[in-house]
Amino acid sequence: MMTSNPRTIAERLGPKWAHVAVECLDRVDSTSAWLARAELKRPTMVTAEEQTRGRGRRGRRWASPPGGLYVSVGWKVLPGTLIPPALPLVVGIYLCEGLEALGITGPRLKWPNDLVVNGAKLAGILVESIDNATEGRSFVIGIGLNLQTPSEGAHLPPDREAIGLEDIGAVPAREVLVAAAARAALEAGSLEPAAVSALMAEQWPAWDALAGRVCTIEHANGETCQGVVQGVTDEGALRLETEEGFRILWSGECRVRGGWE
Ligand code: BTN
Repeated sequence: MMTSNPRTIAERLGPKWAHVAVECLDRVDSTSAWLARAELKRPTMVTAEEQTRGRGRRGRRWASPPGGLYVSVGWKVLPGTLIPPALPLVVGIYLCEGLEALGITGPRLKWPNDLVVNGAKLAGILVESIDNATEGRSFVIGIGLNLQTPSEGAHLPPDREAIGLEDIGAVPAREVLVAAAARAALEAGSLEPAAVSALMAEQWPAWDALAGRVCTIEHANGETCQGVVQGVTDEGALRLETEEGFRILWSGECRVRGGWE
């Protein structure tokens, strides 16, 4: 397996992101954990061919065998800065745009952080706020994108299947994909709050995989609620029409009832 070429990635990122440090590793515990340990004197992007402890949302593991795409971008923020709830969704919007520009058809977003194609998960997005005693606070955005369809996919429930780029069409060069993922994170992270709201209002509906679908939302404490998804607010919360009326949900796991048909 060839390690990605940092010069090629930097070229693909283009002049707007010339100040971003680009690191390419063979193997690492987690690209996001690597950034959490880094000084981040300047915004930094890291990719690895393989992760030994890839992390997903809610403390889950992210299976990261050699040959997948693992990218994280980190930068310092002022102490006390909070992650805007819509940030993962905006990363998703830019990632969909970037993938479509590369000829990958049909990417859609499944609130709160999945990129799906025909309902099957192609990529996951993890946004973390990291506090480091010496370096202060930083934001780290991690993107994992399946190149091959994970074999466990066959055993997942119908709304949780996974898919790899290889099963969708021609796979662009590794550096091209890494740069597209990194640029999505950088563009999203550079937006002012007002621009985030405007982008959500204008763009989310076009990428929304859940609108009009009956979904079950599971909260972190195990409680669930059901309803028809009616998009998201400009701030990134899910709008769910339930039998008791509209609910606005800021977090949770979403399952599509009865699959994606
Ligand atoms: C999810 O749970 O869907 C989010 C998965 C995010 C995985 C990526 S892979 C690159 C970065 N490094 C990690 O350890 N996790 C993120």
